[in-house]
Amino acid sequence: MAISSHVKIYEVGPRDGLQNESSVVPTAVKVELIDRLAAAGLSYIEATAFVSPKWVPQMADAADVMARISRKDGVTYPVLVPNEKGMDAAIAAGVEEVAIFTASSESFTQKNINCSIDESLARFEPVMAMAQAHNIRVRGYVSCVAGCPYEGEIAPEKVADVSARLAAMGCYEISLGDTIGVGTPLVMKRMLGAVMADVPAARLALHCHDTYGQALANIYAGLEMGVAVVDSSVGGLGGCPYAQGASGNVATEDVLYMLAGMGIETGVDLEQVIETAWFICNAIGREPASRLAYACKPG
Ligand code: HMG
Ligand code: MG
Repeated sequence: MAISSHVKIYEVGPRDGLQNESSVVPTAVKVELIDRLAAAGLSYIEATAFVSPKWVPQMADAADVMARISRKDGVTYPVLVPNEKGMDAAIAAGVEEVAIFTASSESFTQKNINCSIDESLARFEPVMAMAQAHNIRVRGYVSCVAGCPYEGEIAPEKVADVSARLAAMGCYEISLGDTIGVGTPLVMKRMLGAVMADVPAARLALHCHDTYGQALANIYAGLEMGVAVVDSSVGGLGGCPYAQGASGNVATEDVLYMLAGMGIETGVDLEQVIETAWFICNAIGREPASRLAYACKPG
C-alpha cells in the first residue's frame, strides 16, 4: 500500500507524557505546555484524563486544565474517559472529543481499569450514547498490541477482535498501543494485517512507546501498511503507571523529522516543538528522551 502524503500527529504529551510523573506538575505548567503545542501547529493535543484521582493523582486537575487552556481554532483537545463519571466531567468541561481505553490483554485491563475486557466494553456503551447525544467524537485505544507486561505475547487475533468491537461501537479511530514498546516492525505488520481484516487503515493510529528503541521503525512499518495517524509525545515523555518499566512515547520531534525526510507535510513547526520539549523537561526536571532535542538544541 502507498504511504499517505499526509500524516496526522496526535500529541499525547500532556496526558501520557505527564501521567506517570510522581511529583505533581503544577496546573499552570500543564496549561502552558498545551498552549505551546497548539502554537507549534499541532492540531490534536490529548490534554488530560478524567480518570479516578485515586488511581492517577497526576490527572486530578483535569477540569482545571480544560478550563484554563486557550482553545485555539482548528485544534482538538481530546481527553481520556474510562466510564460515565469521567464522561460527565468531560461534557461539563466542553470537550469535542474523548478517548475510551481498553486492551488486548485481560491482565493489563484488570490492572489499569479494574475490570475485564468485556466489562470495559460494556462500560463504554453508555459513554458512547452520551457522546452521541452531545455530538462528541470518540477515539478508542487498545493497549498491549505487541505484548503485555503481565501476559507476554499477545495474539494479533486478540488485538483484531477488540479493535473491531471498538470500531463497531462507533469509535471513529482506533489507536493501537504498544504500551511497553516491545514490538518490532514485522511483528507490528503482522498485528496490523490482522486488525485490517475488520478495520480499514484509514481508521487506525499507532501509539508506540519507545522502550526498546523500535518506535520509529514500527511507525515506518505502519505507514507502509497505510496507517496515517501517529501518536507521539513531545520530548519523548510518557509511560503508564500500570505497565512497570514502560518508558516514554516516541518523541513528536523525532517523528516530525522522519516525516519531513519523506516529504510528508504535517504543518507542525519542528523548532517550536523542540523548544517545547526543553520547556517541559526543564519544568519537571527531566532530560528529553528524543534525539532531535539534542541534535537541534535551541541556542
Ligand atoms: P474502580 O476503583 O474500580 O472504580 O476504578 P469505582 O467506580 O469503584 O471508583 C473508585 C473511586 O474513584 C470512587 O471514589 C469514584 O467516585 C472515583 P470514592 O467513592 O472512593 O471517593 N471515580 C472517579 N473519579 C473521577 N473520575 C472518574 C472516576 N471514576 C471513578 N472517571 C477506574 C475504575 C476505571 C475509575 C480506575 O481504574 C481508573 O480511573 N483507571 C484509570 C487508569 C489510567 O488512567 N491509566 C493510564 C491511562 S491508559 C494508558 O496510559 C495507555 C494508553 O496510553 C495506550 C497505550 O500506551 O497502550 C492510552
Ligand atoms: Mg501510552
